[in-house]
Amino acid sequence: MTIELAVIGGTGVYALGALADVESHQPVTAYGAPSGPIRVGLYAGKRVAFLARHGEGHSLPPHRINYRANLAALKALGARRVLALNTVGGITERFGPRVLACPDQLIDYTWGRISTLCEEPGSEVLHVDFGDPYTPSLRAQVMAAATRAGVAVVDGGCYGATQGPRLETRAEIARMRRDGCDLVGMTGMPEAGLARELGLDYASLAIVANWAAGAGPDVDEVITLQDVLDNVAAAMAGVPALLGALLAG
Ligand code: HPA
Repeated sequence: MTIELAVIGGTGVYALGALADVESHQPVTAYGAPSGPIRVGLYAGKRVAFLARHGEGHSLPPHRINYRANLAALKALGARRVLALNTVGGITERFGPRVLACPDQLIDYTWGRISTLCEEPGSEVLHVDFGDPYTPSLRAQVMAAATRAGVAVVDGGCYGATQGPRLETRAEIARMRRDGCDLVGMTGMPEAGLARELGLDYASLAIVANWAAGAGPDVDEVITLQDVLDNVAAAMAGVPALLGALLAG
């Protein structure tokens, strides 16, 4: 089966509304079971797979997600290109709530997650190139599709992946800003690294849900789940057109 694109949905994105003729797959991989059923169907006439990273009922916290099984299952179904939707906090000025961005760099602050296919004794030792953690050709396709669809997407930015599930302290965000991070989320790694090990093209469409702790104009602002979900829903308005253009292109 050829799958033109696999989409992994993050917080607030548990289905792809326009997916038609949907079949559900529940593959079990060498790494275990993915976060939930993989919905495969037609989107703008092309075969697309969708997987909700946290499970369809958002039951898995970021550190409990079986990233290896998710990506291996998508690959086994025939996917070669993965577009990850990542709900994030914004750190620097261009990345306020409801902005869409296609990051080009990342810094990994996560710990204790299985972050490689080389975990099991006897598995091949891989040292994949990761200088560009997001596949440049897929990023270019996403940006071109955004332009064709008339959807504003910031081209580039550095994604900092934190352990969660708690949000960050103001000091942690201040440090991440000094490190060069523009965005903060909890699921970008090990997903991107595993995609590279599996030979999958991988890009992220980051959806800014809130200013990260202490980063916005109101430094005392408290981040609520409702704000996160409202902002994700608003920012997602342009995503169907972007996906349609990506699949058409
Ligand atoms: N920090 C980390 N992850 C997030 C945030 C945040 O502020 N908002 C949405 N995901």
